[in-house]
Amino acid sequence: MATSLLTSVAGLALIILHVCALDNFIAAVYEHAVILPNKTEIPVSQEEALLVMNKNIDILEIAIKQAAQQGAQIILTPEDALYGWKFTRKTIFPYLEDVPEPQVNWIPCQDPHRFGHTPVQVRLSCLAKNNSIYILVNIGDKKQCKSNGCPPNGYYQYNTNVVYDTKGKLVARYHKYHLYMEPQFDTPGKPELVTFNTTFGMFGIFTCFDILFHDPAITLVKDFHVDTILFPAAWMNVLPLLTAIEFHSAWAMGMGVNLLAANIHHPRLNMTGSGIYAPHAPKVYHYDMETQMGKILFSKLESHPHTSPVYPVAVNWSAYATSIKPFQVQKKTFGGFISRDVFNFTELFENAGNLTVCQKELCCHLSYRILKKEENEVYVLGAFTGLHGRRRREYWQVCTMLKCKSANLTTCGRPIETALTRFEMFSLSGTFGTKYVFPEVLLSKIHLSPEKFEVLKDGRLVNKNGSSGPILTVSLFGRWYKKDSFYHSGASRNSAITYLLISTSLMICKLL
Ligand SMILES: *[C@@H]1O[C@H](CO)[C@@H](O)[C@H](O)[C@H]1NC(C)=O
Ligand SMILES: *[C@@H]1O[C@H](CO)[C@@H](O)[C@H](O)[C@H]1NC(C)=O
Ligand SMILES: *[C@@H]1O[C@H](CO)[C@@H](O)[C@H](O)[C@H]1NC(C)=O
Ligand SMILES: *[C@@H]1O[C@H](CO)[C@@H](O)[C@H](O)[C@H]1NC(C)=O
Ligand SMILES: *[C@@H]1O[C@H](CO)[C@@H](O)[C@H](O)[C@H]1NC(C)=O
Ligand SMILES: *[C@@H]1O[C@H](CO)[C@@H](O)[C@H](O)[C@H]1NC(C)=O
Ligand SMILES: *[C@@H]1O[C@H](CO)[C@@H](O)[C@H](O)[C@H]1NC(C)=O
Ligand SMILES: *[C@@H]1O[C@H](CO)[C@@H](O)[C@H](O)[C@H]1NC(C)=O
Ligand SMILES: *[C@@H]1O[C@H](CO)[C@@H](O)[C@H](O)[C@H]1NC(C)=O
Repeated sequence: MATSLLTSVAGLALIILHVCALDNFIAAVYEHAVILPNKTEIPVSQEEALLVMNKNIDILEIAIKQAAQQGAQIILTPEDALYGWKFTRKTIFPYLEDVPEPQVNWIPCQDPHRFGHTPVQVRLSCLAKNNSIYILVNIGDKKQCKSNGCPPNGYYQYNTNVVYDTKGKLVARYHKYHLYMEPQFDTPGKPELVTFNTTFGMFGIFTCFDILFHDPAITLVKDFHVDTILFPAAWMNVLPLLTAIEFHSAWAMGMGVNLLAANIHHPRLNMTGSGIYAPHAPKVYHYDMETQMGKILFSKLESHPHTSPVYPVAVNWSAYATSIKPFQVQKKTFGGFISRDVFNFTELFENAGNLTVCQKELCCHLSYRILKKEENEVYVLGAFTGLHGRRRREYWQVCTMLKCKSANLTTCGRPIETALTRFEMFSLSGTFGTKYVFPEVLLSKIHLSPEKFEVLKDGRLVNKNGSSGPILTVSLFGRWYKKDSFYHSGASRNSAITYLLISTSLMICKLL
């Protein structure tokens, strides 16, 4: 009797688990106009720091409630959303809390004093619990230390993402690895591979500048097979290749994962551009240089995108480009800059044509037909391969077709935001040495081009479904991580921090 009751309870639990595994979920992303502290040159008290953070959390709270009301399972908020970015080690310190590892099994909302004074963590946990929604928030973590390399104040200080589940439990903690001019924070010893599993897929986490490197970003997708990446950022847009919506949507497509990207909203520093990106196309995005307002985005996503009928085919990025004879290599190739990188460019003289431009081992091929040639709009095809920028750490391979700032060819590669020229067809490919290539299409006034282009399995980036919108750039942005100046595939599989926190008790599914 007891046995059969147990069996049927187990059976019921299984059925519930089964029913509760969701094919789709609703994701929310919030672009937050952060309220910056008035004083960041001299340290403030913990109370003052908390005041600033609570002002920001007040705003995030509205977004979290709204997300829950719309039926979202998870909401992502940006990096630095509680206090901004302008700090020294000393002035950030009053904003930091000690964040324990998730294995301690902690619901701060129910047990607020278990790890000392942690008002921010308690409030965030309560927001998740009260609204019954997963939330990711970026906060500052401090860890007391003694050993060699411990900073003079006796603490490591980390740029940290925390995730709370619908019960308010801490289920993930990630310390940012690739810091970008953040003297207030320390780099963890090695890249952390942080994932957590839910009924709506397996999630992986990294932060902002991390997206340009192999670890943890690529390893999470390649070896841990996450379905969705949570990616908070404080991203400064850089045209023509690294504007937030452009690059982040391209990364999702190149890697074949869902990517939720939440950026800070701060137009004066060119920070805007958030989105919800599926592998085959962006679902929703936001870019706003006009207003000072935050913005919430929603979209339905597949929990396991690789099982979807629209999941993109596997691509061999060099198959087409290495199989053809180069189109006539243009005599009039000239050098030009995109940021600090010297590209080889060649102009699209005619209304239609087949062009090849090479730099060292990389040849880029373009076939195109312009719908209507606009006066004064000049386009070039460009190739770059080598270590990028001033730091010269990241090895890039880029094929790009872009609009020059003016008819003067010395302006090709400079930022430009508007265009009129539409293409009846384009097909861009390159002899890439890497399999990590991110396909970008950016239209006039910083718009994406969802469902209007695709990558064929032989590596050609082509338009589809009719003529294109007015084009700023069409690019294949390749990263050859093994040639990076500090490459080491640091993260080993065993260092995985995987939190499997599916509560087998009665789960209430929102989406049935
Ligand atoms: C900054 O100072 C102004 C004027 O004193 C005040 O109104 C505002 O609330 C302060 N901002 C923060 C984040 O404390
Ligand atoms: C959560 O709800 C409880 C009561 O249900 C309330 O006391 C508390 O202030 C709420 N916390 C937050 C952060 O909304
Ligand atoms: C993740 O959770 C789902 C749903 O509960 C389950 O089916 C799946 O096996 C879990 N995956 C892993 C790797 O634990
Ligand atoms: C913002 O971007 C524009 C062009 O895209 C550039 O001219 C300007 O310098 C950038 N501003 C900052 C603060 O980087
Ligand atoms: C990609 O295609 C090229 C040319 O057909 C071939 O040489 C290469 O082996 C392919 N690469 C992979 C990883 O299949
Ligand atoms: C193309 O790039 C290579 C390598 O940077 C350079 O040596 C060559 O002169 C460039 N070609 C032209 C025509 O500018
Ligand atoms: C470009 O090449 C294709 C074949 O590869 C050819 O059909 C087309 O006519 C060429 N276009 C131009 C303008 O030369
Ligand atoms: C093009 O711009 C450069 C400076 O960027 C200038 O030196 C040159 O004279 C310009 N050429 C023409 C034809 O205007
Ligand atoms: C084709 O593009 C139009 C807009 O130009 C869009 O409304 C339509 O959904 C697209 N169709 C497909 C199949 O992608």
